[in-house]
Amino acid sequence: MGLFSFTQDLAIDLGTANTLIVYNDEVVVDEPSVIAIDIQTNQLHALGHAAKPYIGRTPNNLRTIRPLKDGVIADFNATELMLKGLIRKIHTSGSLFSPSLKMVICIPSGSTNVEIRAVRDSAEHAGAREVAMIFEPMAAALGAGIDVEAPEGNMIIDIGGGTSEIACISLGGIVTSKSINVAGDVFTTDIINYIRQQHNIRIGERTAEEIKCKVGAALPELEVEPEDFVVTGPSVLTSLPQTVTLNYSEIAYALDSSLSKLDEALMQVLTDMPAELYSDVVRNGIYLAGGGALIKGLNKRLSDKTGIPVHIAEDPLRAIVRGTNIALKNINHFSFLLR
Ligand SMILES: Nc1ncnc2c1ncn2[C@@H]1O[C@H](COP(=O)(O)OP(=O)(O)OP(=O)(O)O)[C@@H](O)[C@H]1O
Ligand SMILES: [Mg+2]
Repeated sequence: MGLFSFTQDLAIDLGTANTLIVYNDEVVVDEPSVIAIDIQTNQLHALGHAAKPYIGRTPNNLRTIRPLKDGVIADFNATELMLKGLIRKIHTSGSLFSPSLKMVICIPSGSTNVEIRAVRDSAEHAGAREVAMIFEPMAAALGAGIDVEAPEGNMIIDIGGGTSEIACISLGGIVTSKSINVAGDVFTTDIINYIRQQHNIRIGERTAEEIKCKVGAALPELEVEPEDFVVTGPSVLTSLPQTVTLNYSEIAYALDSSLSKLDEALMQVLTDMPAELYSDVVRNGIYLAGGGALIKGLNKRLSDKTGIPVHIAEDPLRAIVRGTNIALKNINHFSFLLR
């Protein structure tokens, strides 16, 4: 018994920013999608959490790679190295982890057949005997608790690191959808640019991301106000250290133009949608998932723009892998969702 009373199956959310793995209904891997490799040997030097601090700090012999970019696989080799490395980490959680039988992997809905093939190969090289893929909006919807097979319209918006995907789902399929490359990474860049232009201070990607997570807002006025964020960096003009205190309203201003693109995309999907489904969505509300769902006031902003209630999925950063796990556990039932 013992070992064999557990399944060896994995649900994996292969994301631009984060990769998560569920094993036996538990999230056992939740790490940034980053690796650092030794340039000379092409060997893996660091992975996930351990590699993230390397970004922007590597010496000449090392290079950090984010294997996925803009919601697609940018580097096949790096993706495989990362996937294998992360699966190997499951060992540490207890008993021996033997090669898995089944894997369901969530992939960006913009993936081409070549990319899907590459992910499948990587998973097989990492020990999978049976690999199935699920597209991200469907996994997000399952993870948000939506009954994707119901004969009614449900809308999910997944705002990740590389892409924001808006999809209307009914009867187990995506009816109308739109994917834009405006998501977490762009918001981070907006903050870098804003602080350089407005305050003449240079900041790096990691600092900008921290600002986004702490005081990132979608509205200039919030009911619950986050505390100001104090940032120090070199002055663009003098290179001397300079400090500025950032208020969330200021960051809302910095993010506004990118968030408007999200508003527009959502309006577009609502406009293109069949009328019956539209009224279902008005009744059921819109669900937000992915890390971008945590931008303060985003649900209110979208609901103000559309007049439709907007709900944040429980633990939105993990909703997608949760949904992927639901597909894994009911793999026969949900075979029509899988590739
Ligand atoms: N509290 C927060 N506020 C704002 N943004 C956040 C917060 N927490 C995480 N994020 C952002 O969410 C993004 C990561 O979200 P997620 O893990 O859903 O993306 P992903 O699935 O890896 O990307 P993709 O789906 O595009 O492949 C990052 O850009 C991160 O900075
Ligand atoms: Mg994602």
